[in-house]
Amino acid sequence: MSALLNPIARLFISILFTVSIRAAVGVSHGACNDTCGTIPVQFPFGTGFGCGHPFFARYVKCSVGTLEFSTVTGIYTVSSIDYPTRTVIVTDPLMSNCSSMQNSGSFSLDRASPFTLTDDNIFVLLGCSTTSPLFDPSVDSCDTGSSSRVCRGLYSCKAVTGIGLPQNAPISTCCVYDSPKGVGYSLDLPKLQCSSYTSIYEFGDEGDPTKWRFGISLQYNDSYYTDACKDCESSGGLCGFAGMEESFACICKDGVNTTTNCLGHGYAWNGGTWEPKIQANMIIGVCVLLWTLLSF
Ligand SMILES: *[C@@H]1O[C@H](CO)[C@@H](O)[C@H](O)[C@H]1NC(C)=O
Ligand SMILES: *[C@@H]1O[C@H](CO)[C@@H](O)[C@H](O)[C@H]1NC(C)=O
Ligand SMILES: *[C@@H]1O[C@H](CO)[C@@H](O)[C@H](O)[C@H]1NC(C)=O
Ligand SMILES: *[C@@H]1O[C@H](CO)[C@@H](O)[C@H](O)[C@H]1NC(C)=O
Repeated sequence: MSALLNPIARLFISILFTVSIRAAVGVSHGACNDTCGTIPVQFPFGTGFGCGHPFFARYVKCSVGTLEFSTVTGIYTVSSIDYPTRTVIVTDPLMSNCSSMQNSGSFSLDRASPFTLTDDNIFVLLGCSTTSPLFDPSVDSCDTGSSSRVCRGLYSCKAVTGIGLPQNAPISTCCVYDSPKGVGYSLDLPKLQCSSYTSIYEFGDEGDPTKWRFGISLQYNDSYYTDACKDCESSGGLCGFAGMEESFACICKDGVNTTTNCLGHGYAWNGGTWEPKIQANMIIGVCVLLWTLLSF
């Protein structure tokens, strides 16, 4: 009897040990995370290389708690993502707003990217030279309809001194940019001879520029969400990619990545209640049962 009990006891202890290690490793998804700072990160976005969709990983990554959006013109900050409407608000640290104005860099969005500007954006060029090609009457680059209201509002901000203009300066150096529509976008400040730009995506109280919402509103293409990814997510995993081919990988909470889903990876799915503890209890239960059976 003791010759039989010993190997069973050893098996029992080793299973217990494995389960507790798994439980301790717990909630991390290997290199992937479902939040970045305060921003929930869901497919097609990922927090780092190997997470989310490979096409999106080139543009968006998490860096020290900040979700960053990169284009050829710079690195911007993602301030919010609305998944149901596929809208991302990004802010450019060098962009002006009513409380802070400074010289800005250019902004561009490449044609190949899965992002497009939404119609909510109103790009405004500030501190432009009066000889700028923007003011060429034969080109019509500035929207004269809304221009005076928006420009006067921005030039009433105290921070306008940051771009070398007095408060309430004449608006002849300001332009509400009527950009050429379509995919791809480029705001080349040196070429347009302007010192700064801003983008307003929501006015709120129209008369009060301190209440306007500044940022660039983008929409992303969500045609990358596949059944394989849905299957992975419903098993508690995060979708990612692996290998030279950047092929689909499902990253499980125990750090293992699979080509399918996370069933059998410590965290089988049941509305989030399949905790490792329950699984450990089941294994212990089976062991106790075996033990009891073999003892007779
Ligand atoms: C995921 O993000 C949270 C909050 O930012 C952090 O506490 C946690 O350590 C991260 N996990 C991993 C595996 O990076
Ligand atoms: C997926 O697994 C491979 C091999 O184990 C590893 O190199 C890679 O970092 C993993 N990816 C993630 C996102 O954890
Ligand atoms: C204005 O811009 C500054 C500098 O980029 C930023 O720190 C601040 O949060 C912005 N404020 C608003 C209201 O957008
Ligand atoms: C979204 O991406 C798919 C797949 O790459 C592409 O076929 C489609 O044209 C894109 N849609 C838009 C609106 O760009």
